[in-house]
Amino acid sequence: GQTSFLVFSASLRADSLNTKLARLAAQVLEKNGSKVDFAYMNAFDCPSFNQDLEVDDFHPEGAEAFRKRVLATDAFIIASPEYNASMPGVLKNMIDWVSRFRPQPFHQHHALLMSASPSMVGGNRGLWSLRIPLEHLGTRVYPDMFSLATAHEAFDAQGNLKDEKLAKRFEDNLVAFRNQVEASKHYPCIKKA
Ligand code: FNR
Repeated sequence: GQTSFLVFSASLRADSLNTKLARLAAQVLEKNGSKVDFAYMNAFDCPSFNQDLEVDDFHPEGAEAFRKRVLATDAFIIASPEYNASMPGVLKNMIDWVSRFRPQPFHQHHALLMSASPSMVGGNRGLWSLRIPLEHLGTRVYPDMFSLATAHEAFDAQGNLKDEKLAKRFEDNLVAFRNQVEASKHYPCIKKA
């Protein structure tokens, strides 16, 4: 059937550039025939991780929500801010909580990473740090990542990318990812266990 994606931004900020980029990714995927479940990071809110909380098979509601939505879709897309050359603490905290489910929800799941930053490098270093826990957990992190530099000047009033070449690159990246996710559904050897 139709390929489906969970798309979310790892920023809690109301006027987040990453949320703008995530919204645009959702629009582009829908335009290309995919189904999108769009989420805000506060839907995945979790307490600071503490193993002492893990009694009677406890999992925070935010981690349960993420697990449900990840397992209901074929792949997920994160637009994440870069904080101090790494990922935001809220995102790492949520990943740590989600990693405690069995079966472990990230395993064999496809992911595409993107970032937006007012800087000239677009938050790309944060994505390399985000790859580490995701790949450790067995996520199929797409090799090509999209980082939007000078993101505070990149969007027009409709939320599209002003630069046409960049808009085309963005769409090509998403479509290539979509094609890989779709193809993997037909090959049992690379299917989710
Ligand atoms: C930042 N910012 C930032 N930007 C960057 O490109 N590299 C970095 O290392 C950092 N570090 C950093 C640390 C902290 C604690 C904050 C609050 C911010 C700036 C960041 O990219 C900017 O605030 C973005 O607008 C955040 O993303 P959202 O919220 O707009 O999606």
